[in-house]
Amino acid sequence: MPEWPLIVIILCKQMLIKKAIFPVAGLGTRFLPATKAQPKEMLPVVDKPLIQYAVEEAYAAGVREMIFVTGRHKRAIEDHFDMTYELEVSLEQSGKRELLEVVRSVKPDDMECIYVRQAQALGLGHAVLCGQRLVGDEPFAVLLADDLMIGPSGGQPVLAQMVEQYAEWRASILAVQEVPAEQTRRYGIVAGTAVAERLVDVSQIVEKPAPEQAPSRLGVAGRYILTPGVFHEIASQPRGVGGEIQLTDGIASLLRREKVFAYRYAGRRYDCGSKEGFLQANVELALAHPELGAGFRAFLQSLPL
Ligand code: G1P
Repeated sequence: MPEWPLIVIILCKQMLIKKAIFPVAGLGTRFLPATKAQPKEMLPVVDKPLIQYAVEEAYAAGVREMIFVTGRHKRAIEDHFDMTYELEVSLEQSGKRELLEVVRSVKPDDMECIYVRQAQALGLGHAVLCGQRLVGDEPFAVLLADDLMIGPSGGQPVLAQMVEQYAEWRASILAVQEVPAEQTRRYGIVAGTAVAERLVDVSQIVEKPAPEQAPSRLGVAGRYILTPGVFHEIASQPRGVGGEIQLTDGIASLLRREKVFAYRYAGRRYDCGSKEGFLQANVELALAHPELGAGFRAFLQSLPL
């Protein structure tokens, strides 16, 4: 049975990264008033909240322990990944099996959700540090739900691609993409030496540099696989850009001790932290939706653009 060893290798790779941190404590001020009383991570793209896309991506990459770093007003996220007994009973009694499956699949039985509070909004690095005790001494993923990542059609989701890279290199992997020169101020920017078609051995990383200071145009997207050594590095960082404890600064410090790779992911990123990116995601995902796609395309074509 020649297929067996291959299956075993695939399964082992899938289980390399078991935990993921989702920093979800941000205030979402860019989407006010929509986010006045609900977390921005619960804004729906077509029919699913942003956070669910990120959690599904982590699950598809083999992650089973989802660690949410939350803040005040984030109860809706906990409720979303909790059992909704009354709803399930009502759907069952009315014979709505498909909807029942949709509701139940939000949290598969083998997935665990853990919540930890970030009492003060001191930055992304600080949020990741809040997950340290839950992660312990193992590599882990960080997913920023604002960045909605869609893998190439028929291909692997972005985090699963990164787990494959981790399996090969056993080092931190940062998802990157080319960004326009005038947008370097929005991203962590990396520079280094290309070691493979999609992989760069990182020698430098800077948080939100001005275009003239940016060492390249490779911007970090909101997906990271990090070794646990990064916690120690973040903990010793002074406040950086915007007066915040930056994850990028922790990674810059980690670089002095360990290899870090930047991976040019295959797929598409929607910056759902901006209204424009959020609208683009809704339009493109609606067009690709198996039930809505055709009708929505016809609607768009009928518009007097
Ligand atoms: C964060 C990171 C930045 C990264 C970006 C990706 O910035 O600090 O390095 O490039 O996410 O979305 P934020 O968008 O939270 O300001």
